[in-house]
Amino acid sequence: METGLRTAAYIAATILFILSLRGLSSQVTARKGNIYGMLGMGIAIIATLTCSGLDAFVPILIALVVGGAIGARMAQTVAMTAMPQLVALLHSFVGLAAVLVGFATYLAQTKTGSVFEIEIFVDVFIGAITLTGSILAYLKLKGSVSGRPLLLPGRHLLNLVLVTSAVGLGYLFVQGTGTEGLWQLIAMSLIACVLGAHLVAAIGGADMPVVVSMLNSYSGWTASAAGFMLGNDLLIVTGALVGSSGAILSIIMCRAMNRSIWNVIFGGFGSDSGKSPAPSTDAAPEGDIQETQVDEVVERLAAAKSVVIVPGYGMAVARAQHKVHEMTEILRDRGANVRFAIHPVAGRLPGHMNVLLAEANVPYDIVLEMDEINDDLPDTDVVLVIGANDIVNPGAETDESSPIYGMPVLQVWESRFVVIMKRSRATGYAGVDNPLFYRDSAHMLFGDAGTSMDGIVAELRAMAPAGAGA
Ligand code: TAP
Repeated sequence: METGLRTAAYIAATILFILSLRGLSSQVTARKGNIYGMLGMGIAIIATLTCSGLDAFVPILIALVVGGAIGARMAQTVAMTAMPQLVALLHSFVGLAAVLVGFATYLAQTKTGSVFEIEIFVDVFIGAITLTGSILAYLKLKGSVSGRPLLLPGRHLLNLVLVTSAVGLGYLFVQGTGTEGLWQLIAMSLIACVLGAHLVAAIGGADMPVVVSMLNSYSGWTASAAGFMLGNDLLIVTGALVGSSGAILSIIMCRAMNRSIWNVIFGGFGSDSGKSPAPSTDAAPEGDIQETQVDEVVERLAAAKSVVIVPGYGMAVARAQHKVHEMTEILRDRGANVRFAIHPVAGRLPGHMNVLLAEANVPYDIVLEMDEINDDLPDTDVVLVIGANDIVNPGAETDESSPIYGMPVLQVWESRFVVIMKRSRATGYAGVDNPLFYRDSAHMLFGDAGTSMDGIVAELRAMAPAGAGA
């Protein structure tokens, strides 16, 4: 492909990537955003393939077919609830690719000069941090490694020593000629691997969503550094888009959880040194609760003028979104004002609940964000909390020892009647007791959310329409 044509293809791909990000910023345009992204990537792949010589064309094509087949299989089989760990694993591949490309480029010695060597060094450094950080995030999210933060004494000093050693090695690296700096590159890679794992090890389970988004950002910057190293403009721009959008998402999530972004980046920086957050416990919390049954919930719902539904991770596990939509339609037909309240970190992915509700065809205009609905909760007749826990925990406002202290939550306890649908009194993701369960307005409807929803919908359907016989 001619250089002019290739540049035009790269510009077209860049514009499509920007349009894709813009589209993905709202659920109404998200589908279009995905299509733009796919088109952009298609153009980028074709342009890259046609510019490579025949000897590179065949291996790239084979890698594309094999990688594409594995990716398609993964996408088909992954459970929605396992998406965060899959995303973390995919970030580790970006980190690994950056490290390998960095070493290969250095050994090939296609270019020389300090700027080129610095590009290689930075690429491998960020790539190696992303690699081990993402692998550890994957293991933590999968539950293979404890989600508790590893807060070593003097951990910030350790990080500082690791970064300073890497910078020192970088200085020696650019002094060498030919491939003399190989051992410095290897030593720095090992240091960066330890640093990546240590940074993520220091972060507690409750902050993992932000970590995944930060690793997404790192993988973008790694790709961008690789773009400089390889002289590929599209890789520079695409990497910068991923890097900056990941960083913006991390900041938004940190604000939503009232966390400091620096705290997350530097692994507990600013938190009490060496002191773990309140112990998380999987044991059932203690206290008196009020239990309710499907009949009572249906009675309350049938009489309610305003209903707010708070979906959480348990709704995804129970795949109850379709039944929830069915119930919503019945209640709306009966004249109730039914709305959804979405917490920014509900579920296990940014936008997790929005995706599930969109899949069930819940109208977008009744799906509100936390800030839009919190003030309406005191005037709400019934709140249905479906498989949510941490995001409705009043302790986040009052208990300073709680790992989620300071995270804004949905104040469902302010409403007249709260139904909490879950299987047991077990804790949620953050592993902390939920004082909501013991509030006067709170009523526990125990059982799988899908089964409970089946019961509620069946009884609502069997009821006479609102106003009949009144
Ligand atoms: P959680 O606090 O994790 O609570 C979910 C609740 O769902 C659990 O207490 C569980 O109780 C219940 N549950 C599970 N399966 C169920 C089923 N089949 N039927 C009924 N209930 C079921 O979820 P949340 O309130 O959505 O809060 C999200 C948490 O995840 C936050 O701590 C957040 O920081 C974290 N996180 C979020 C993300 C993003 S980006 N959204 C990513 C990673 C982590 P039982 O076991 O008693 O049923």
